[in-house]
Amino acid sequence: MTTAPTPQSLTLLRPDDWHLHVRDGAAMQAVVPHTAAQFARAVIMPNLQPPVTTTEQALAYKARILAAVPAGVSFEPLMTLYLTEHTAPEEIERARAAGIVACKLYPAGATTNSAQGVTNLRNIYPVLEAMQRQGLLLLVHGEVTSAEIDLFDREAVFIEQQLIPLRRDFPNLKIVFEHITTKEAAQYVRDADAFIAATITPQHLLYNRNAIFTGGIRPHYYCLPVLKREEHRLALVQAATSGSSKYFLGTDSAPHAAHLKEHASGCAGCYSAHAALELYASAFEAAGALDKLEGFASLYGADFYGLPRNTSTVRLVKQSWTAPEHFAFGEGAQLKPLAAGEALAWQLQG
Ligand code: NCD
Ligand code: ZN
Repeated sequence: MTTAPTPQSLTLLRPDDWHLHVRDGAAMQAVVPHTAAQFARAVIMPNLQPPVTTTEQALAYKARILAAVPAGVSFEPLMTLYLTEHTAPEEIERARAAGIVACKLYPAGATTNSAQGVTNLRNIYPVLEAMQRQGLLLLVHGEVTSAEIDLFDREAVFIEQQLIPLRRDFPNLKIVFEHITTKEAAQYVRDADAFIAATITPQHLLYNRNAIFTGGIRPHYYCLPVLKREEHRLALVQAATSGSSKYFLGTDSAPHAAHLKEHASGCAGCYSAHAALELYASAFEAAGALDKLEGFASLYGADFYGLPRNTSTVRLVKQSWTAPEHFAFGEGAQLKPLAAGEALAWQLQG
């Protein structure tokens, strides 16, 4: 058997990032230009403090994001609402009318700024009914939060305890199982109906949990859901490169100041927006599947959301470069990106 030689450049329809954190204020100014340089659109996570729970807040946040996009760059933030047990079904109608695309479900306590999330899905059933009716997507952080469930099992347990009943009760609600990290999640999505899809991050395609502990504790590889065993990474690579339209790009780029990650109780989140497409290209190349990158990065997400595909293109070239060690991040802080100071094989052309 012969393997096809790796191409030296790749032209793709401009991709979109279907799961992104950009924060707010000075921190946001530092990160929005990175995403806008790569992606036409990004789904903006609403886990600010306080969370983005109303249409009015989401529209104001969108305006602040747009103000951080460099002049001459075209970038569209796709806004979401943070579901709480106080979200009113009427808010969903307002959201739909204002072009908000989805609501995000954070099980209370699951991750960064999720304290005001949902403790019992039953408490938001009227809102989910309104979303199903209005055609808003439900984006799910799929982990149970019970202290007695092992951290590495929380995604698989979520599928059984929460997701399967949710699908049964809302068969026409489009759900994105965000940042999947296990073979159980990849298989569940593969075998489920067409109303469920999943995003996959670059870190979960490139690393397994050893990365967090190599030669000492490495907080910049800590995100939630946490990196898993190699068998799970392989299942995610298989899913992402399978050509199935149920899996698409969502970086979950989640910037935190370096000093808050290098901390006794370090924040969860990997920053990847500076080199998102390059990181995915490395993962797809390692799997011998560069020909599947465009579907994953540029087609399937738009199709699932029912939005038009982009028309412009981007070009990746096989050209080694070194990712910066850090970026400035708000007042006096620094941001340490994924693959900081490491050579990357692919580079996005400006
Ligand atoms: C995210 C963040 O920092 O906002 N962190 C993370 O580890 N992924 C929250 C999230 O998406 O879980
Ligand atoms: Zn996230």
